[in-house]
Amino acid sequence: MKILVVGGGGREHAIIKSLLKSDKVEKIYALPGNGGIALDAECYPIKATEIDKIVEFAVQKKVDYAVVAPDDPLVLGCVDKLEEKGISCFGPKKCAAIIEGSKVFSKNLMKKYGIPTGDSVTFTDPDKAIEYLKTTDYPTVIKADGLALGKGVIIAQNYIEAETAVKDIMLDKVFGASGNSILIEEFLTGPEVSVLSFTDGKVVVPMVSSMDHKRAKDGDEGLNTGGMGTVAPNPYYTEEVAKECMEKIFVPTIEAMNKEGRTFKGCLYFGLMLTPKGPKVIEYNCRFGDPETQVVLPLLESDLLEVMMATSKGELKPEMVKWKDGAATCVVMASNGYPQKYESGFEIKIGSLSADENVFVAGAKLDGNALKTAGGRVLGAVATASNLKDAIKKAYGVVDKISFENAYYRKDIGKRALSRLEK
Ligand code: AMP
Ligand code: GLY
Repeated sequence: MKILVVGGGGREHAIIKSLLKSDKVEKIYALPGNGGIALDAECYPIKATEIDKIVEFAVQKKVDYAVVAPDDPLVLGCVDKLEEKGISCFGPKKCAAIIEGSKVFSKNLMKKYGIPTGDSVTFTDPDKAIEYLKTTDYPTVIKADGLALGKGVIIAQNYIEAETAVKDIMLDKVFGASGNSILIEEFLTGPEVSVLSFTDGKVVVPMVSSMDHKRAKDGDEGLNTGGMGTVAPNPYYTEEVAKECMEKIFVPTIEAMNKEGRTFKGCLYFGLMLTPKGPKVIEYNCRFGDPETQVVLPLLESDLLEVMMATSKGELKPEMVKWKDGAATCVVMASNGYPQKYESGFEIKIGSLSADENVFVAGAKLDGNALKTAGGRVLGAVATASNLKDAIKKAYGVVDKISFENAYYRKDIGKRALSRLEK
């Protein structure tokens, strides 16, 4: 089969490497892909948001199946447009992708169907929002309604910070129309868990749980980033917690979307916080997480393409999705300075890797035969092992096999997870 993957980051590289293990896969096209993905798939310079061009490409190349990975094309209705041309897709339609595309929508959904989440108030009027900030407790959480490149959540420690955030979002429109509405949400505490799931709208099959490391610096200090590393499984996510989440969150969410006439098919990502009052939803994503996918998919034993196609057809069964024992770790290697200013264009050298080691490339381009840095997060150094401790050690071993000028990475990926295991 000829497969199209829309997107061009480390997540897409992990998806492509996983798809390539399937006997059914003959060829993979990536739009736009990146310099590292180009070693595994045919890349063309069409952006993930150029929906009409993507559809035209898919028709012209007669692709048999498409995987739409990033949030923006899903929210823009890329799956609807491809399916109109008879191309089956992995990913939700526009009407279901709204679960990530609008935080006001998802908050209202959770309230309506009794799905546990933080209390919040919605505002469309900045003056009313600022008035409310005078009465609320701190820290408080301010969220822009729409997509904001992962930057639309601000944790304000005091009134001044909160007022600035509201003005930035609603008046100065730093996130554009995404800030027409905002949520002001209760600040929750507890360990965070990412649970990606396959769902065809009838059953929901959670993948191995994972833990992201969002802050730029060791010890969870520094600025928020797209994610500096991940481990799977997440040791805080015990069988007991998993059962509770299935009953109170996962199944009710799928049913709620059905009742709203917005059946969700694809990967539904539950961003959870295990609060003292039980697990609560922090966010939904309508797609695979990045860099969660880089640790989850290497642990998948089943054929990813078969699972994806069963999901699209509404024929998903829990027994189709099998996992390997053991653990995985991803250490993101970034350009020094990320998430702020950084330099690019440095050659990346990668030593030879064993079967349980991987490099998933995110921000790099090919210059002749040389792979050169071209983004903030450059790549993920990934390893699997029989236990978390060894997976962490091996992933840092992969880091040691990689060199490029100005490389920066956290030295403590998995440390918190490991200390929890050793408790
Ligand atoms: P998001 O952009 O929705 O992934 O949110 C970014 C991060 O903000 C989350 O991973 C949490 O660490 C934090 N966050 C979001 N909502 C809350 C909340 N209600 N309380 C505390 N932290 C939150
Ligand atoms: N790692 C968080 C996300 O993909 O949104």
